[in-house]
Amino acid sequence: MSERRIALVLGTRPEIVKLAGVARLLGERSYLVHSGQHYDDLMSQAFFDSYRLPEPAYRLAVGGRDRAAQFAGIVGDLGQHLRAEHPVAVVVQGDTNTAAAGALAATCVGIPVVHVEAGLRSYDRTMPEEINRQLVGVLATLHCAPTETSACNLLSEGVPTDRIVITGNTVVEAVEEMLPEPARRAQLLADRELLSEEYVLVTIHRPENVDDPERLRSILTALAEIDLPVLMPIHPRTRDRIAEFGLGDLLAPLRVIDPLDHPSFLGLARHARLLVSDSGGLQEECTVLKRPLLVVRNSTERPESVEAGFARRAVPGPGLAEQMVRAAERGWLEAVAHLPSPYGDGSASERIVRAIDDLSLYEGSPDRLVGGQLCAR
Ligand code: UD1
Repeated sequence: MSERRIALVLGTRPEIVKLAGVARLLGERSYLVHSGQHYDDLMSQAFFDSYRLPEPAYRLAVGGRDRAAQFAGIVGDLGQHLRAEHPVAVVVQGDTNTAAAGALAATCVGIPVVHVEAGLRSYDRTMPEEINRQLVGVLATLHCAPTETSACNLLSEGVPTDRIVITGNTVVEAVEEMLPEPARRAQLLADRELLSEEYVLVTIHRPENVDDPERLRSILTALAEIDLPVLMPIHPRTRDRIAEFGLGDLLAPLRVIDPLDHPSFLGLARHARLLVSDSGGLQEECTVLKRPLLVVRNSTERPESVEAGFARRAVPGPGLAEQMVRAAERGWLEAVAHLPSPYGDGSASERIVRAIDDLSLYEGSPDRLVGGQLCAR
């Protein structure tokens, strides 16, 4: 690479979705590095295709390894690449192993880190994602916080105000761009013999839910109680755990399908009566799609979705089936139909690129302050 450019490091589905707009706006000034954390075509290449992203200039292959090995692989191999190419900045997104190890590699080589989707906190240290986000929070030079809440989290941890920019979340423009037109959405439903607002769409993949056989059983059993078709695009991790724990029979009442590309997933989500998920991204997407979401998790780092009325949290156990059945009643769907999204106006990618452009003017540049009055606490 002849000139010094900006490296965008990504490796999983959500990172591809949420960095696509930034990559497009940066154009030739940036290049992509793929960690290989997600390696199945349906989990990675399909997303590159949908967003028409260029081939990564550099690829690692850490997929399928345990967490420590993913970190070691990314820090070692990416570190070597960064030392050779020395990009002006490394951009990472969110809270994956790829993001945290990517930020660590850049820091070790002395390259500034830009964190997209900075400052989310559940303070639930049992989740690898929480540790990853906090780690990137320590390492980043520029924190692109999606909301005031996330900016305040960073301020309360001692991040200086002039290193934080509130941008909104790039997922808003990703959904706006990728949601298929009504005719294509009608076809997506017809292909699966589904009626609009007469089915539930489910995604479950978090270790807290799928690595524990009792929790996994509780979730699958509760889903079967819903008196509507339940469509479940299945993550490879969930598929493997169900087989390992011998829970395959519990899938019989559900409609299990392969992971979907992003436009198809959004099209189906847009017409669901209810979404049920432990995903982070869907907690944001539901606010753009105007669909209610039951978040099956012990904690959430996205309280904005709950406070705005789009999401409710549910913990696996005896009461889960009843909560799901209640959530699938029409009233909640109608209540969220016209609520505004708390994640911004669809210009987050532009704001992030502007902030990156300012990076060289960064030290002592007071016009980029978040605003001292923002956090009263
Ligand atoms: C990762 C992120 C999570 C994000 C999710 C999106 C971390 C800690 N977690 O979780 O925050 O919500 O991506 O999907 O980074 N696998 C395949 N094929 C693939 C990808 C994964 O078979 O293409 C298998 C892996 O071999 C592994 C399991 O699925 O056994 C988990 O994959 P991994 O990438 O470690 O984490 P995710 O659960 O996908």
